[in-house]
Amino acid sequence: PKNSEIPGYTYGAAGHSPVTLAELEELKASVMFGEKDAALLRRAGELLDGQVEKILDTWYGFVAGQPHLVAHFSRPGGEPIAEYLEAVRSRFGQWIRDTCTRPYDQEWLDYQNEIALRHTPEHKNETDQVGSTRVVPLRHLIALVVPITTTIRPFLAKREESAEKVEAMMEAWLKAVVLQVALWSRPYANEGRW
Ligand code: HEM
Repeated sequence: PKNSEIPGYTYGAAGHSPVTLAELEELKASVMFGEKDAALLRRAGELLDGQVEKILDTWYGFVAGQPHLVAHFSRPGGEPIAEYLEAVRSRFGQWIRDTCTRPYDQEWLDYQNEIALRHTPEHKNETDQVGSTRVVPLRHLIALVVPITTTIRPFLAKREESAEKVEAMMEAWLKAVVLQVALWSRPYANEGRW
């Protein structure tokens, strides 16, 4: 789908990030993310493009199979909210494309802030007007870096024969995901500790 057709996807219209571009550059240095990684991600984006729905099936299967995770797409103590799962799914698919193809500039940084807030009481449930849990715990955000990363490999390998090139793209993907989750930790941190 085109960006404008994804309900609740407000890239380019998000509030200003409290994180500065200079802080982003420092964080990129800390995860060893450079121009080479940006190029590897663009290549990964080409390979993953036609496989996004299958990747989402894998991730949603992972979340659906774990009560402590699916709880955050459910009414507190209740059933999963189908419309919520569906709405977030299309934005998640776009996030895969954004991670691979967008320049990590001010607009990107601003949407990073919005994604962070959507996992916290500031904005969770707001976009899709649902009554789910108030916050995704930070520890699970961090933990999900593992499945979000390892499950990508077979999709890259399906389209790239060279194991070496697959590994290089995997490394770039891991850096990009850790970079983002590090940014998303900001609204969870006490003043002066981020
Ligand atoms: C929303 C990615 C961890 C639950 C989202 C979105 C993305 C995303 C891209 C949609 C953002 C948008 O609205 O444009 C990730 C990544 C994670 C992670 C990359 C870890 C590396 C988790 C965990 C949970 C979770 C552990 C717990 C089940 C949710 C929920 C939403 C959401 C409930 C919808 C929030 C709302 O707008 O109400 N996530 N997420 N996420 N994620 Fe995560």
